[in-house]
Amino acid sequence: MAIRAVFLVGLCCVLQSNGIEVEASENNGCQNFQPHTVMLQEKQAYRTSFHFQPPRNWLNDPNGPMWYRGVYHLFYQYNPYGALFGDFMIWAHSVSYDLINWIHLNHALCPTEPYDINSCWSGSATILHGKGPIILYTGIDANHCQVQNMAMPKNLSDPFLEEWIKFAQNPIMTPPDGVEGNNFRDPTTAWLSHDGKWSVIIGSWSNNQGMAILYQSEDFFNWTKYQDPLYSTERTGMWECPDFYPVAVNSTYGVDTSVLNAGVKHVMKASFNSHDYYMIGTYVPEMQKYIPDNDFTGTSMDLRYDHGKFYASKTFFDSVKNRRILWGWVNESDSIEDDMDKGWSGLQSIPRHIWLDRSGKQLVQWPIEEINKLHGEKVSFLHKKIDSEAIFEVQGITAAQADVEVVFELPELQEAEFLNLTAVDPQLLCSDANASIKGKLGPFGLLTLATKDLTEQTAIFFRIFKGLKGHVVLMCSDQSRSALRDEVDKTTYGTFIDIDPQRENISLRCLIDHSIIESFGGEGRACITNRIYPKLAIHEEAHLFIFNNGTLSVTISSLNAWSMNKAQMNHKENFIYKASH
Ligand SMILES: *[C@@H]1O[C@H](CO)[C@@H](O)[C@H](O)[C@H]1NC(C)=O
Ligand SMILES: *[C@@H]1O[C@H](CO)[C@@H](O)[C@H](O)[C@H]1NC(C)=O
Ligand SMILES: *[C@@H]1O[C@H](CO)[C@@H](O)[C@H](O)[C@H]1NC(C)=O
Ligand SMILES: *[C@@H]1O[C@H](CO)[C@@H](O)[C@H](O)[C@H]1NC(C)=O
Ligand SMILES: *[C@@H]1O[C@H](CO)[C@@H](O)[C@H](O)[C@H]1NC(C)=O
Ligand SMILES: *[C@@H]1O[C@H](CO)[C@@H](O)[C@H](O)[C@H]1NC(C)=O
Ligand SMILES: *[C@@H]1O[C@H](CO)[C@@H](O)[C@H](O)[C@H]1NC(C)=O
Ligand SMILES: *[C@@H]1O[C@H](CO)[C@@H](O)[C@H](O)[C@H]1NC(C)=O
Repeated sequence: MAIRAVFLVGLCCVLQSNGIEVEASENNGCQNFQPHTVMLQEKQAYRTSFHFQPPRNWLNDPNGPMWYRGVYHLFYQYNPYGALFGDFMIWAHSVSYDLINWIHLNHALCPTEPYDINSCWSGSATILHGKGPIILYTGIDANHCQVQNMAMPKNLSDPFLEEWIKFAQNPIMTPPDGVEGNNFRDPTTAWLSHDGKWSVIIGSWSNNQGMAILYQSEDFFNWTKYQDPLYSTERTGMWECPDFYPVAVNSTYGVDTSVLNAGVKHVMKASFNSHDYYMIGTYVPEMQKYIPDNDFTGTSMDLRYDHGKFYASKTFFDSVKNRRILWGWVNESDSIEDDMDKGWSGLQSIPRHIWLDRSGKQLVQWPIEEINKLHGEKVSFLHKKIDSEAIFEVQGITAAQADVEVVFELPELQEAEFLNLTAVDPQLLCSDANASIKGKLGPFGLLTLATKDLTEQTAIFFRIFKGLKGHVVLMCSDQSRSALRDEVDKTTYGTFIDIDPQRENISLRCLIDHSIIESFGGEGRACITNRIYPKLAIHEEAHLFIFNNGTLSVTISSLNAWSMNKAQMNHKENFIYKASH
């Protein structure tokens, strides 16, 4: 659950568990919503065409993603009553055969019982061999205390697993001693250890430390807290939506969450301060310890999945294609009034294939290959020089709904400007050295969602510097001119990319979808996601340009751009539109 709120810290219920009984209720509390949120027609220019979103209302964290018997499932945090976050959050549910086109189902989990009566917050799915999937989720109980609960499919023969039933013995975990009732949430997918025990971690904050509290179980029902957290640190806030999984060394293939051998490293991810941070390290089950290669530092040096808007993410192992897939919540950055006028808030990122970089120092992300099925008209060219101060338009595609991949080839690098990297925050550097500031090698890159006259434009660009130890590649997204509107967030984002430009060309891929741009720099070694709300650069008025504002020319070694077709996205409920006047 990604929204911090103030709760009464009540006395939390004591766990009592014996046999496992299942509570089958005909009414899962998901009926009788009044989903008639009014959606202002003119604000629908911001609705996306191939990103995951429900027909209306508020969405946040992805929950329990999985593939089970031929079907991909995505559950997500949803407010059935409106376009803003609410105090009655549920698990909405969609299914897909290809991770691109989605079918909207009846809601899976809604508040009904004392242990979740004030919301069903985030959690994960674990597939138990021979027994099917089980959901672990956080309930906000009658005392406004966070507890962990379980649910299972009502009918395993239903290919969509549409109905879910909660366990009679819920809650299965309550806040342990020293943990307040509002700092105990978001169970991960469980993993099975060599000793036959299941393990799971819960995000927390205790004794001024962010942490992953470890629970173990022999039967998946009776969970015991391990004495120490799997990992804790004073350098972060409260851990939301932790994720813990193995990644293969020297391979882009994913591995199942329980895999542990010499060929894997382990990733520990936590969401805090509005960002998703991760570490790469070693899991030592004998000691129940996670030993990161580099601890969190609480600075801009810490590894992040994405340097723009991307939060509360979760991965799952896709056993069909042997890959690990990452989903993340992409928040709005418009005003509350506009969110209400739109009638919806929040998107899921394009699912990203995620693996360990060859260097072993970071992860790499790339849009899943299925997204290419939506490619329409294509424009491409090779070897085009862009002189200093040149700008030209990429024509022939729908620039508001596009997939663009460009590779830049650099000239000799001796003339790159010097940059003293000591204590440089790349995001601040991108704000100071924004797209309109001339450099030598860069700024060069794309101007997305731009009006013909460039009054609205979002620049996604690179600059190359000379550091003390080799060259430095900076990737930025400058939203300062993204919209002729004052009320939207215009933060500039930025990060360094671990590339040696003497040995490698610099690539950029952008997925542009009306109000979202997901950018992948350096073949997926750096990601920046933007939410953009142009006033004029919408539909056919949106254009795509390539620019170079450095004094040295650069060459486009290749460009491929496609119009994107619309995905089938959760069409079930009917929209209710209202004209504004
Ligand atoms: C739950 O597991 C713990 C630790 O294995 C054990 O001591 C306890 O007896 C179990 N409780 C039940 C009800 O099975
Ligand atoms: C379970 O689902 C299958 C497949 O949809 C269906 O044929 C069967 O009737 C369902 N069973 C119950 C008890 O609903
Ligand atoms: C990965 O590749 C490197 C370089 O080829 C090699 O030294 C290392 O042993 C490999 N690691 C594993 C776990 O295969
Ligand atoms: C989501 O976006 C809104 C509007 O920009 C902001 O106020 C809020 O803090 C964001 N929430 C998170 C968890 O990032
Ligand atoms: C880089 O900056 C640091 C801190 O400002 C300073 O101490 C150092 O001398 C600088 N190095 C160079 C080569 O300019
Ligand atoms: C770009 O940076 C310069 C120098 O910091 C600043 O004066 C200017 O306002 C910035 N431009 C935009 C569009 O933010
Ligand atoms: C390039 O520089 C010129 C002159 O400073 C400026 O007007 C223009 O906006 C810059 N281009 C971009 C894309 O920022
Ligand atoms: C960049 O791309 C060009 C054209 O594909 C290629 O000839 C060149 O070797 C590449 N440069 C580097 C440094 O990889």
